Amino acid sequence: MIKVLLNGCNGKMGQVITNIIKNSPDLKIVCGFDINTVAKNDYPVMASLFEYSGDADVLIDFSHPSSLESILEYCVEQNIPAVISTTGLSSEQTNKIKNAAEKIPVFFSANMSLGVNLLIDLVKRAAKLLEGSFDIEIIEKHHNQKIDAPSGTALAIADALSESLSKPYEYVFDRHSARRKRKETEIGIHAMRGGTIVGEHSVIFAGQDEVIEIKHQALSKEIFAVGSVRAAKYLIGKKPGLYTMKDLVSSI
Ligand SMILES: NC(=O)c1ccc[n+]([C@@H]2O[C@H](COP(=O)([O-])OP(=O)(O)OC[C@H]3O[C@@H](n4cnc5c(N)ncnc54)[C@H](O)[C@@H]3O)[C@@H](O)[C@H]2O)c1
Repeated sequence: MIKVLLNGCNGKMGQVITNIIKNSPDLKIVCGFDINTVAKNDYPVMASLFEYSGDADVLIDFSHPSSLESILEYCVEQNIPAVISTTGLSSEQTNKIKNAAEKIPVFFSANMSLGVNLLIDLVKRAAKLLEGSFDIEIIEKHHNQKIDAPSGTALAIADALSESLSKPYEYVFDRHSARRKRKETEIGIHAMRGGTIVGEHSVIFAGQDEVIEIKHQALSKEIFAVGSVRAAKYLIGKKPGLYTMKDLVSSI
């Protein structure tokens, strides 16, 4: 039985994971953590990880960037692998994740869905082929409750595209602030917010008289929860290091 600590357990994703693990015979949530300790769960809920004195095999986090430092400190101290799914982290925080990954296994992905990771693979190949003659734009859409913009996934897609392109490309987030034509070497990144959209990411390659659009649409939050539970199982027994969906996908 894999003993799971769930950070952000009373949030939307925390509750989806709670339901998935309830129906998984090989996993059990031994304790949840949330600044909101009021909501009821069939496991204990604490406000701080440091209040927990039992043992655990892995921690799954879907919470808020403000929680990151304490998660890393606790997991390194207790030698517990961590699956970090929270988005909107600063570059300083992603460096802290890399440092922690020298001591414990850490799985970090801005998007835990298998489909989005396939999209990333496809757009990298498209960028190599189309570079120079097609303009690249990313459009992401999310529900009206999302705080960070653009999404961590849109940035991860842009970073993956950059890796495949032979020249440095500039990320352009706001065309409103400058009146000029787009440059060839830019990736436009646009965020739309509304309603209950779970998550959509489109990568558009716009060329002379033709447009290619590669799009992923998340229809429920469950895909991210399933991915993070899979990541938690994958981390058990791993050496310290930073693992991503790319590693998980290639291990299947
Ligand atoms: N990587 C992915 O695939 C993926 C998918 C969906 C959501 N997310 C990210 O996961 C995070 C949570 O998403 P959500 O939709 O469940 O949000 P949510 O706002 O519904 O839930 C967040 C929960 O975290 C709690 N929380 C806030 N600060 C905390 C702290 N310091 N310590 C402990 N708990 C704290 C809140 O009380 C809340 O219950 C967001 O950053 C979101 O962007 C990532």
